[in-house]
Amino acid sequence: MSPIPKPGILEISPYVGGRAAAPGAAKVFKLSANESPIGPSPKAMEALSAAAHDLQLYPDGSARLLREAIAEVHGLDPDRIVVGGEGSGPLLTLLANAYLQPGDEAIFSRHAFLVYEIITRANSAVPVIVPERDTNTGIRVDVEAMLAAVTPRTRMVYLANPNNPTGSYLNRDEMARLHAGLPENVLLVIDAAYSEYVTAKDYESGMEMAGRFPNVVMTRTFSKLYGLAGLRLGWVYAPPAICDVLNRIRGPFNTSTVQQETGAAAVRDREHFWKAVEHNNKWLPWITAEIRKTGLRVDDSAANFVLIHFPPGAEGAKGMGDGKSVAAADAYLMQRGVILRGVASYGLPDCLRMTVGTEEQNRLAVSLLQQFMAA
Ligand SMILES: Cc1ncc(COP(=O)(O)O)c(C=O)c1O
Repeated sequence: MSPIPKPGILEISPYVGGRAAAPGAAKVFKLSANESPIGPSPKAMEALSAAAHDLQLYPDGSARLLREAIAEVHGLDPDRIVVGGEGSGPLLTLLANAYLQPGDEAIFSRHAFLVYEIITRANSAVPVIVPERDTNTGIRVDVEAMLAAVTPRTRMVYLANPNNPTGSYLNRDEMARLHAGLPENVLLVIDAAYSEYVTAKDYESGMEMAGRFPNVVMTRTFSKLYGLAGLRLGWVYAPPAICDVLNRIRGPFNTSTVQQETGAAAVRDREHFWKAVEHNNKWLPWITAEIRKTGLRVDDSAANFVLIHFPPGAEGAKGMGDGKSVAAADAYLMQRGVILRGVASYGLPDCLRMTVGTEEQNRLAVSLLQQFMAA
């Protein structure tokens, strides 16, 4: 008999990332993976080149240099930070590996990041998927429904704030309500991959909560605002007891010297940070407003992408989209080299997600959508 994986693993649909190629198009404009349009900090690039030495040596397994840089910038205790060398995704996996047993339940919302389901099933635990609310600003996580889904088997709640792919966020009060309604033995995982983009005054990234409560952690990534998706680097801020657990089960050298030195320079370069924020602040509202002018629904977003809704229903069926379906839009854009993200796997079959790109990319994508809708 051949080896059998743990129960649940074969029920996992492998993660498929945003497309990167548009066959036949002369030039490709990739707006499908929420990557930074302005790229990494020049100081991070310098650090990257300078770090390419002594590769025969193992890195500092505790990644002190990087943890101290993150701690200094955010005013945190470096001992409450654990970094991960394959982005923030694997840190979410470590948390699931540490805290989920077979039959346990993990709660997340209907349009949550796909990785939550994968890591839940990988631990033979049960995903509990909670509907979201469709409001006049967009699709939002429903705190009351999340709390109503808690049972004695619940061990984890995953929440991306802001959420991908909806772009909506829960404010400080909503987060407090969610946390207050959870039993103390349930771990609230706040995935703050897009937090650096949020400008709303009532937003709390999870840093305060993870600093205060023994059952809250916050994950962050260098893949989005820091423009280092290819470097694969993330971190988690957690109570000491949880850091202790993660440090026991993580790879002993789970970040390279190159990652540590590049990441430290990136997080310290506040000038580049603000440049990236300002770029987003300029183009996110522009994209939202311009696409809305075509008549398409675009939800409010607090992140670096927007969710665009196309008329539901069969392609070309009378009164059901009139040929303006998501598939037709996607094909129209792809032929012209513009790649957005189909989000059917997130339970949003009539939507495309568009990342805020460079000025050229934004203007092109918007004008193509205008042409498509006018045709
Ligand atoms: C909500 C959310 N969390 C986490 C990640 C993972 O990012 P990374 O593993 O590159 O740090 C992503 C990436 O798309 C995301 O959208």
